[in-house]
Amino acid sequence: NEIYLRGLGDVVPELPTDLTRLEALAGRRLSAAAFGYAAGAAGTEATARANREAFDRWRIVPRMLRDVAERDLSVRVLGTPMPAPVALAPVGVQSIFHPDGERAAARAAAAVGLPYVLSTASSYSIEEVAQANGDGPRWYQLYWPKDRELAVSFLERAAAAGYTALVVTLDTFALAWRPRDLDQAYLPFLRGIGVANYFSDPVFQKAVGGPVTDANRDAAILHWAANFGNPSLTWDDLEFLREHWHGPIALKGIQHPDDARRAVDAGMDGVIVSNHGGRQIDGAVASLDALPPVVEAVRDQAEVLFDSGVRTGADIAKALALGAQAVLVGRSFVYGLALGGEAGVTHVLRCLLAELDLTLMLSGHARIADLGPDLLVGT
Ligand code: FNR
Repeated sequence: NEIYLRGLGDVVPELPTDLTRLEALAGRRLSAAAFGYAAGAAGTEATARANREAFDRWRIVPRMLRDVAERDLSVRVLGTPMPAPVALAPVGVQSIFHPDGERAAARAAAAVGLPYVLSTASSYSIEEVAQANGDGPRWYQLYWPKDRELAVSFLERAAAAGYTALVVTLDTFALAWRPRDLDQAYLPFLRGIGVANYFSDPVFQKAVGGPVTDANRDAAILHWAANFGNPSLTWDDLEFLREHWHGPIALKGIQHPDDARRAVDAGMDGVIVSNHGGRQIDGAVASLDALPPVVEAVRDQAEVLFDSGVRTGADIAKALALGAQAVLVGRSFVYGLALGGEAGVTHVLRCLLAELDLTLMLSGHARIADLGPDLLVGT
């Protein structure tokens, strides 16, 4: 309402309210390497495009005369009360986009009240981001490193710093074939930004012979790269996480209903249907197309979250109607961060929530729980 009335009162927002325009604007602001890292995807980027096209194949069928004067968008997901079913997806090394990086995004998330999911590959430490996030809800995303002692150290630091849920990303035990990144020189890029979350870790420091300084920086980056993911993990290894994390756990990167069932069998609290924004396997199924079978498989036993391709409030309504309990947004907030730091992220989040609220209202729905497949027709 506020955004709307300001517009009517001839206050022009600094960033466009059509969030699909942010990518092109960010492309003009960022270096080629930084923009390629954000906007790029695997291979020919067919899956990144498919993620968007899948949203276009669903259309909303509005219903009339249903008293939508009072609406409630709040939900509780992974033990976290949320004002709306939206979280900021884990995104690595955010200082590539803005010097304040994760700290700016985590402040914006707290101001709007949405969970901030901190990536293992962050450019500020677990503790620094927690401080910026203050009383805001926050979850921790684990890239499970080869070194188990390091994994435990991350989990213990995150729990101590007030991250309440764990998101375990399964689809990125190796970085994929991403031409826009491969065509840039990686090491100088990483040397410039660092991955403070690792560098600040006592277990990591022990492995590289002490605190990371200019002298051992390249060695630290190479150690990070060698340790980053573990392709030999299996479903049995999840027990280890259960032992070392005492809050809710969601597995991110689930695309097959059988994997969702296995997550439930392993005692996981949720799954995140995601193809990493099309960044891992070129030619993979559009994430929105993978959502309904997963919901069907585990609806009553686990929470199902969704990401990959969400750009608007209407997109969020579609994913919720197809059974997601909440969505995560990645590039949308990244472009806001690139264009306006904390204020840019706040703008993006407020626009998404305002459009979601209007979409609910105008389609005749007063509560998130009222959304179901009958909202949509496939085209
Ligand atoms: C990501 N993503 C990601 N995921 C994760 O679990 N840990 C990470 O560190 C990162 N890093 C990362 C960097 C950048 C630049 C992007 C764009 C994405 C994936 C992210 O969490 C999410 O799955 C996708 O971004 C969702 O797709 P959209 O919203 O970008 O289309």
